[in-house]
Amino acid sequence: TQQPRLVLISNRVATFDPDQPKTGGLAAALEPVVERSGAVWMGSSGKLGDGTKAMDIGQHGEGQVAKLDLPREHYSGYYEGFANSILWPALHSLPDRMAGSAENYQSYQEINKFVAGAAFQFRDRDAIWVHDYHFLPLGAGLHNLGVDKPIGFFLHTPWPAPDMMERAPNHRELMKSMLAYDLLGFQTNWDLNNFCDCVRTHLELEVEHGVVISDGRQTRCQKFPIGIDPKQFAQHASESLTKQDRYISSLQKKLNGAKLAIGVDRLDYTKGIDARIEAFDQVLAAEPRSIVLLQIANPSRTEIEAYKSYKRDVERLVKRVNDEHGTDEWRPILYENDPFTQAQLAGLYRAAHVCVVTPLRDGMNLVAKEYVAAQDPENPGVLVLSKFAGAAEDFDRNGALLVDPTSPAEIAAAISRAANMQRDERIERWRLMMDKIESYTIHDWSADFVRELDKSRVTVPADQ
Ligand code: G6P
Repeated sequence: TQQPRLVLISNRVATFDPDQPKTGGLAAALEPVVERSGAVWMGSSGKLGDGTKAMDIGQHGEGQVAKLDLPREHYSGYYEGFANSILWPALHSLPDRMAGSAENYQSYQEINKFVAGAAFQFRDRDAIWVHDYHFLPLGAGLHNLGVDKPIGFFLHTPWPAPDMMERAPNHRELMKSMLAYDLLGFQTNWDLNNFCDCVRTHLELEVEHGVVISDGRQTRCQKFPIGIDPKQFAQHASESLTKQDRYISSLQKKLNGAKLAIGVDRLDYTKGIDARIEAFDQVLAAEPRSIVLLQIANPSRTEIEAYKSYKRDVERLVKRVNDEHGTDEWRPILYENDPFTQAQLAGLYRAAHVCVVTPLRDGMNLVAKEYVAAQDPENPGVLVLSKFAGAAEDFDRNGALLVDPTSPAEIAAAISRAANMQRDERIERWRLMMDKIESYTIHDWSADFVRELDKSRVTVPADQ
């Protein structure tokens, strides 16, 4: 059968430049999907406007990218406000981080309506695939305009339990509007089950085998754990050995016999960077000079107060640990704010004996998968992983050293164990994770979602 001609919609679109660093899992993940499939990918241009300018459409491989200037009037209430100060912390089950006002919801709805209006010009395509929490009500907006093609939605973040979701203002209305989608995709069983529980509790609807019927139409809810392109990472990693990257060579010198641990995150309070640094403090106190942490922390959502204060907290901690355990010529924590390209990251992953991924909660966490894919099969490093990252469920809780991300003592013990682990055990653990990564790549993920979405094209709508 012929591939359906797709429209993808997400807030942020990728740069399609291999020399440009990529921040954020979503944009990096969709790039190969668009290049290979001939889809149109629609998203924000990063510029603001008065809402009258036509989209700027460019060609990338087989696909196209359509960039939209979002209306200035509603942007902040939508992005900094409802999406990132209300939904983001709610979805990550961090109620104490929730902030924002009632008007934010209005702006969020306005931007969703605006994007639906712009997407209308692609209504002749076969199916529409919407991404992430910025656009929960977009499918309903498209229906209101009369779009009758299958519309799917994938949530890259977690979905919380009913009592947590209840704290998000307008949660009922939002969830009801999500039932306009034909297919709802989640990262893990945990998210999928929470969503189904929320539908039962907050919408008082039945869910059977992931199917919800409401107003005479059906929505299927399924799990699609997002992956990476492991071949590409392995290739970048082995190329880095021959390329003699300047950063890596100077890093090797700085280690001076110590082991290398790596952390790569957006500077976001969900990522648990603070507890990780506290853990390092403990490791260094017990085994002085045994290990160096390269922490790459890319500034993110910098207009939001919670992000500003988190950035300051992390910087203070890094300084404290470096002052306490470092000397004039040696620092145990190398803290980098500039992003690296995927090729550079793969080289750094390969050089690191340990990767520390300790989010308080995370949809999947692709750093965990990328680190594994970049290892030398004969002499791999060890992954220390939060049990609350989607990747922990996806690896069947096998392979990585699982930790409670709020416990510096537990993280410290896992880092020491990882740094001292024998090769046989490292290989065995690595193989378990690598098998999973290879069995469901980013290409399988997107093909699987699109295949499922395409089924809605032929399904006769269920009678009520
Ligand atoms: C997460 C979200 C993405 C988002 C990315 C970067 O991965 O799931 O939707 O694009 O963070 O965040 P930003 O706010 O910079 O787009």
